[in-house]
Amino acid sequence: MYEFDRLLMRKGTNCSKWDALEQTYGDPDLVPLWVADMDFPVLPELEKALAARTENSTFGYTFAGEGYYKSVIGWNAGRNGLTLTKEDIVDVPGVVCGLSFAISALTDPKDKVLINTPVYPPFFGVPRSLGRQLLLSPLRRGKERYEIDFDDFEAKLKEGAKAFIFCSPHNPLGRVWEKDELENVAKLCARYGTIIVSDEIHSDLVFSGHKHIPILNVSSVAQDMSLIATAPSKTFNIAGLKVSMLIVKNPDLRKRIRTLLDQFHVGVSLFGYKAAEVVYREGEKWLEELLVYLEDNAKFAVSFLKDRLPRVGAYLPESTYLMWLDFSSYGLTQEALMEKMRKEAHVALNDGFTFGEEGRGHVRLNIGTTRALIREGLEKIAAAFGR
Ligand SMILES: Cc1ncc(COP(=O)(O)O)c(C=O)c1O
Repeated sequence: MYEFDRLLMRKGTNCSKWDALEQTYGDPDLVPLWVADMDFPVLPELEKALAARTENSTFGYTFAGEGYYKSVIGWNAGRNGLTLTKEDIVDVPGVVCGLSFAISALTDPKDKVLINTPVYPPFFGVPRSLGRQLLLSPLRRGKERYEIDFDDFEAKLKEGAKAFIFCSPHNPLGRVWEKDELENVAKLCARYGTIIVSDEIHSDLVFSGHKHIPILNVSSVAQDMSLIATAPSKTFNIAGLKVSMLIVKNPDLRKRIRTLLDQFHVGVSLFGYKAAEVVYREGEKWLEELLVYLEDNAKFAVSFLKDRLPRVGAYLPESTYLMWLDFSSYGLTQEALMEKMRKEAHVALNDGFTFGEEGRGHVRLNIGTTRALIREGLEKIAAAFGR
């Protein structure tokens, strides 16, 4: 049994979630339920492997060894039924960095790039910073979950989207897209010649009753016009080690991306390679236990909200340790909502508006922490907001 009920002391390590509270919210003592990483001790085998690696004082130039490829290929085959060869794997330090390189390599300035909103803020930032035009297709709120509005999605593709950045599973809505939804996305993108850049960083964090399907497994057409950006960083809480990968089956798309990466000499560090190798080889049991803990956290949060904050709208997430909470019934402006969270509840949450226009009245809650800390945060919110 691993120790998901023990809060890791992270303060004083330059850790964004705990140590950047002062700089971001002006108060170092808020309950930190924001930045998307977790407060659990890492996989013990990883800690040992990295400690052992520091005993050998060789820290010079490095490359991805056979052990790394074996682990990445084995993990993808085992968890997602995704068959990879070494050539399909393009190493990048981060997923957002990978999205930037993919959009840079596969589209031109002023091209249109489509995203579904609300969504993880860099989905706006990456195309904008590269001088691409954004096309937004808002997700539709269904009875029990958010869904793609396929009429709107197709209309936006028709406007000439060169690429679609897909969040699968979805941050912040926690959706795991189903087979028919994925087939529809792939079919429509093929019809309009739109490349799918599928960010699957949350694909290991899927709860019971749901199954992640990689975009590359949807159809042979999808395989030819899509790529995946993924990493062990969310799953195993190792974002600071900077190891991620683009998975590209189409040789032409891959060559264009590799050429650009070579121009900028982008690579992964030796600790990143070592970490990915170890977690993907030895981390499955840890992940299975983590998923049970996180799913129980999600159920706890939903039930707390129902009892104590019934005016807050929330769905049980199908994936991710993130929850999208709707406070719009309180009738506050976004600024007033965030100020109340900070000054009265003393809790740090992500501002929903940074995820797009639809995020007004919303906040994102991170439940990748101990149940005790989630309870503390929710109690404070309940005290500040009332029923
Ligand atoms: C959908 C999504 N993509 C990418 C990232 C970050 O990836 P990286 O830190 O590797 O750039 C996150 C982090 O929350 C995320 O939710």
